Amino acid sequence: MFSFSEQNDFFGRRCVWVNGPVIVGAGPSGLAISACLRDQGIPFVVIERSDCIASLWQKRTYDRLKLHLPKKFCQLPKVPFPKEYPEYPTKKQFIAYLENYAKKFDIKPQFNECVQSAKFDEACKLWRVKTVSTIGSIRSETEYICQMLVVATGENAEGVVPEIEGLKDFSGEVIHAKDYKSGEKFQGKKVLVVGCGNSGMEVSLDLSNHNAKPSMVVRSSVHVLPREIFGKSTFDLAMMLMTWLPLWLVDKILLILAWFIIGNIQSYGIKRPSLGPLTLKNHHGKTPVLDIGALEKIRSGDINVVPGIKRFTGKSVELVNGEVLTIDSVVLATGYFSNVPFWLHVSIKLQTLTLINSISSSESETEFFAENGFPKTPFPNGWKGKGGLYAAGFTRRGLAGASADAVKISKDIGKEWKEELKQKIKKVPTHRRCISTF
Ligand SMILES: Cc1cc2nc3c(=O)[nH]c(=O)nc-3n(C[C@H](O)[C@H](O)[C@H](O)COP(=O)(O)OP(=O)(O)OC[C@H]3O[C@@H](n4cnc5c(N)ncnc54)[C@H](O)[C@@H]3O)c2cc1C
Ligand SMILES: NC(=O)c1ccc[n+]([C@@H]2O[C@H](COP(=O)([O-])OP(=O)(O)OC[C@H]3O[C@@H](n4cnc5c(N)ncnc54)[C@H](OP(=O)(O)O)[C@@H]3O)[C@@H](O)[C@H]2O)c1
Repeated sequence: MFSFSEQNDFFGRRCVWVNGPVIVGAGPSGLAISACLRDQGIPFVVIERSDCIASLWQKRTYDRLKLHLPKKFCQLPKVPFPKEYPEYPTKKQFIAYLENYAKKFDIKPQFNECVQSAKFDEACKLWRVKTVSTIGSIRSETEYICQMLVVATGENAEGVVPEIEGLKDFSGEVIHAKDYKSGEKFQGKKVLVVGCGNSGMEVSLDLSNHNAKPSMVVRSSVHVLPREIFGKSTFDLAMMLMTWLPLWLVDKILLILAWFIIGNIQSYGIKRPSLGPLTLKNHHGKTPVLDIGALEKIRSGDINVVPGIKRFTGKSVELVNGEVLTIDSVVLATGYFSNVPFWLHVSIKLQTLTLINSISSSESETEFFAENGFPKTPFPNGWKGKGGLYAAGFTRRGLAGASADAVKISKDIGKEWKEELKQKIKKVPTHRRCISTF
């Protein structure tokens, strides 16, 4: 850790001055920024609430998970995936890649420390980041003080648990998809999977492969595309088409090709949204489902598609069409949300300092993050706020977006860092500058 002063305050809280940015989150985004900073020789501290790197991948994903996009779109800056890795690496392979990445760049996060609050101190123009660490029964608090704060806590920090009548009193097991590992323990059970995003589809497929009886709730509409079209990744194809054609036309082409390959999904009870898949993703952040076998199971009747839920009662669920199903368990594949609004308090009345250190202008109060915990400024400009604040991994563009953010942020921090060093050197009188160089 790079700190030149470490002391306990009046309340027994450890205070740490960080000479460089504090990065919150040791997922792919936090690791990517750390690697780029390490390469420039810039010190940093990474704070992670869990006891490992990439905790989403290690602790909150199911066993059968593979990357949905080809590996070239998922690698972090500076290190390609090993050549022997398949086109779609498994979760295990991805975690091994990330572990090696952290080792290569000597990234050692402060594990088991959860950021409770981060505030910009107007008076000294510094960030005050408070964490709580609980190991067993021992609880300790630390306050990090720094000039730059990088938010890398992810778009999927917490699971959405919807409020549905009777859900709390449902007598069977209810879990969120983040806690689902495998269908093994659900063998022979009737399981209601709520949601039909990539998680809902894949959990339903996994349940069916383990001889459970899944019913998947599709309450509105969703785009389902094949993962590959004529042997080429659909994502890759879309990226290629987008360099030549407008988005609406690429959408049309993708839907026609999808229709040829997977047929009309409306006949299975799955409505397509009126906006095209890429337009919907761009404007509303809703990810299309890349099918890896669930549609086949729906076609064969192994996965039952049902409409929205009205209420739960005892061990059954009533659907909006009046149908009542008896079920043993519920898996909520209802998505995720960012936790940034719970801990980041950023109301900065920024005052721009000129070179002669006088206040030249004063900007109005700024709120960088919206209520949903995503930067207000849309991609590609949502990575930099004011007062040394940065956001990585909030572009709704998966790992490729996280890498792009990391490169931009680390370059910017590098520039600021060099500028500050120059200013510091300028302030040292000439004779002392000579002394310090020797
Ligand atoms: C099931 C699933 C599968 C996915 N598959 C793909 C895929 O194949 N390809 C793809 O591109 N994307 C995929 N994604 C999206 C995925 O979220 C990102 O690709 C990637 O994990 C984002 O990295 P990140 O570092 O931004 O966020 P995360 O991986 O979520 O990492 C954030 C880290 O911050 C930590 N943290 C959160 N809050 C705090 C706090 N207050 N204090 C301290 N630490 C905190 C978390 O513990 C976590 O370790 C998938 C997502 C899910 C849920
Ligand atoms: N292998 C992979 O690459 C992989 C695998 C899984 C997930 N992921 C990624 O992880 C992210 C999250 O995916 P996700 O599938 O977990 O979440 P998601 O895409 O946000 O989907 C959530 C689903 O839950 C439904 N839902 C929410 N509340 C509901 C309610 N009360 N009743 C019925 N349905 C409800 C939504 O329906 P509405 O649309 O009607 O709101 C939607 O179908 C995405 O970026 C995804 O691509 C990737």
